[in-house]
Amino acid sequence: MNILVINGPNINMLGIREPVIYGKQTFADLLALLETTAQEEGLHIEQFQSNHEGAIVDTIQAAYGKFDGIVINPAAYTHTSVAILDALKAVSIPAVEVHISDVDSRETFRQISYAGLYCEKTIKGQGLDGYRQAILYLKQKYT
Ligand code: DQA
Repeated sequence: MNILVINGPNINMLGIREPVIYGKQTFADLLALLETTAQEEGLHIEQFQSNHEGAIVDTIQAAYGKFDGIVINPAAYTHTSVAILDALKAVSIPAVEVHISDVDSRETFRQISYAGLYCEKTIKGQGLDGYRQAILYLKQKYT
């Protein structure tokens, strides 16, 4: 199974940005977790991170016909991007949304998710382990 993990703006700053909210684990730790999960679960996992909305849309479009599942943390674009929602709908690849923090217990603007209108599951407030849980969900459901 081929899984694409997409991370939006500022996720590359993990470990530095607001550690009280996002924890002390770094972006490199996240990449290592994805690699370990791929090896343990016998999956092909690719990761893409961008601070640019259009680059994320391009990557979702390019996933068509290549990936069986998408794990996406659109970060701040979660709450604003109809373009990312439409790209997910366009390719129609099963997708799970991940948020490192518990967005429900934060500002009200974080409780709106456009990507979440497409994703079949949302995992929030589980830290980096949320990505592993999302990958396992896709594996269990689609293999
Ligand atoms: C986030 C939550 C978003 O509200 C925020 O803009 C982020 C990260 C999370 O993983 O908790 O950048 O998606």
